Amino acid sequence: MAFFRRAFAALTAVSLYTQNAFVAEAVELDLTQPSSIRAAAKTIAGDMMAYYATNASGTVVSGIPGLLTYPPYYWWEAGAMFGQMVEYWYYTNDTTYNDLVTAGLLFQVGPQANYMPANQSKDEGNDDQLFWGFAVMSAAELNFPNPPADQPQWLALAQAIFNQMTQRWDTTLCSGGLPWQIYTFNNGYDYKNTASNGGFFQLAARLAKYTGNQTYADWATKVYNWLEQSPLLTSSYQVYDGSNSLKNCTDADQMQWSYNYGILIGGAAYMYNYTNGSTLWQTRLSGLLNNTDVFFPSTYGGKIMVEVACELNQKCDTDQWSFKAYLARWMAVAAQIAPYTAEGIMPKLKGSAQAAAAQCNGGASGTACGSRWFQTTSDGNTGVGQEMSALSVISANLILEVAAPKTAVTGGTSKGNPAAGTGNGETKNPLEGNPVTTGDRAGAGILTTLVLAGILGGAWFMVT
Ligand SMILES: *[C@@H]1O[C@H](CO)[C@@H](O)[C@H](O)[C@H]1NC(C)=O
Ligand SMILES: *[C@@H]1O[C@H](CO)[C@@H](O)[C@H](O)[C@H]1NC(C)=O
Ligand SMILES: *[C@@H]1O[C@H](CO)[C@@H](O)[C@H](O)[C@H]1NC(C)=O
Ligand SMILES: *[C@@H]1O[C@H](CO)[C@@H](O)[C@H](O)[C@H]1NC(C)=O
Ligand SMILES: *[C@@H]1O[C@H](CO)[C@@H](O)[C@H](O)[C@H]1NC(C)=O
Ligand SMILES: *[C@@H]1O[C@H](CO)[C@@H](O)[C@H](O)[C@H]1NC(C)=O
Ligand SMILES: *[C@@H]1O[C@H](CO)[C@@H](O)[C@H](O)[C@H]1NC(C)=O
Ligand SMILES: *[C@@H]1O[C@H](CO)[C@@H](O)[C@H](O)[C@H]1NC(C)=O
Repeated sequence: MAFFRRAFAALTAVSLYTQNAFVAEAVELDLTQPSSIRAAAKTIAGDMMAYYATNASGTVVSGIPGLLTYPPYYWWEAGAMFGQMVEYWYYTNDTTYNDLVTAGLLFQVGPQANYMPANQSKDEGNDDQLFWGFAVMSAAELNFPNPPADQPQWLALAQAIFNQMTQRWDTTLCSGGLPWQIYTFNNGYDYKNTASNGGFFQLAARLAKYTGNQTYADWATKVYNWLEQSPLLTSSYQVYDGSNSLKNCTDADQMQWSYNYGILIGGAAYMYNYTNGSTLWQTRLSGLLNNTDVFFPSTYGGKIMVEVACELNQKCDTDQWSFKAYLARWMAVAAQIAPYTAEGIMPKLKGSAQAAAAQCNGGASGTACGSRWFQTTSDGNTGVGQEMSALSVISANLILEVAAPKTAVTGGTSKGNPAAGTGNGETKNPLEGNPVTTGDRAGAGILTTLVLAGILGGAWFMVT
């Protein structure tokens, strides 16, 4: 515990520092200078981490390590944020936040070291768990400093999540797939979604690359094949959000979200690389990348990323404001480990980064980043997701400067455990089988769908 307390004291100090730095100034960015990119990333990382230690009115509060301490941020988004901060360290070598990040990542592992902490048991979805999985997988691949030996290790944590997903694979409906929710009593259990299945696919692909163990690659292929035969992924590589398993997945919610594309692009890039550049995975990766054009509308020059489903009318929810971060991250990874894609990807990461930096002059709130990168001055719509997205796309411009992800045979040092997460009862929730009241049904997770699909019904991008 001392480890966590020390880290938390550091957190508070960092936050105070950042707050004092809130004076009216814009984030300068010269993309031809790596030092300028790193400096911009440092400013934004500071602004983002200030949210971690403060409440909505900006007061420094002591909180629980690993949680964004106040609504509306769900548990998963903190996992995504720590993943960003692992990558921030990788891109910049700035170790300022490393202890905080390690403390946050470790505090939330839960009693069985599998990212199933009891406090989240009422509303944890497979996709939520996976975002913590992406963070620890990045930590392993990027040689983020390993936790003390008596703590769970990055690779083993990722393997625990993978193993749990294999046990949750559900063939009773839709001939396979993971339900969105982990627990049958949660709203959304009947929804098989792309974030959960695509996330499982990506994690499996990354574990295959890191460990060289073909079992992971076989699972990645199996999950991708399932997506491909489902209405979630069309033969022309359109990626839809999810499908109702009570209708045996006969149709899809056709909302297109940047993060779903990002998740599949990341996984396909790893499989492409793992298979030494196979034609099969090259075709899939290219097909997915081709369809990301929807997020770079020609109206704004075709090189600025837009969350088209909700950004134009400013109706994104808290989760959705962070989605551009993941498309940016995994497009960058594709450029790095599937180098043939770099030529097409880098101009979009450049255009988006330059535009995002211009949004990071949030008027009264100093360098805070707004949401609409295609506008030349901040729209004042700020939050953790907006900071994450800007940080991700700006740092992504360093992707061709930094070392490729490590594997167990190229210098990766994280210790694994292929059997992690398979212990007695580990796929079961302590609450499973107990009556749950309506009030308990948070139905949280990543709320991308259902309700919003209704609100946004006739939007142009849904028409394919
Ligand atoms: C933040 O914390 C301060 C101090 O505890 C409190 O006065 C304020 O109401 C809090 N704001 C929010 C939005 O919770
Ligand atoms: C970051 O650290 C790595 C490893 O020590 C080193 O190779 C690299 O040059 C450093 N980059 C910068 C920008 O300091
Ligand atoms: C769970 O919630 C309790 C009560 O708020 C808190 O003390 C504990 O630190 C939390 N645990 C985690 C892993 O977040
Ligand atoms: C459900 O869909 C799968 C394809 O995903 C199909 O093989 C199966 O026959 C369908 N089951 C029913 C009962 O329609
Ligand atoms: C990729 O190439 C390496 C080196 O030639 C080889 O060891 C490995 O088996 C190949 N992997 C696949 C999946 O074909
Ligand atoms: C992707 O777009 C390129 C360029 O237009 C085209 O050559 C390629 O066939 C497309 N790939 C797929 C799989 O659709
Ligand atoms: C796999 O990734 C490594 C590291 O970036 C790269 O050197 C290699 O060329 C990639 N393999 C293929 C087939 O593109
Ligand atoms: C490969 O991964 C599978 C699935 O987790 C595991 O059962 C097996 O033991 C692993 N093999 C090795 C050699 O680690």
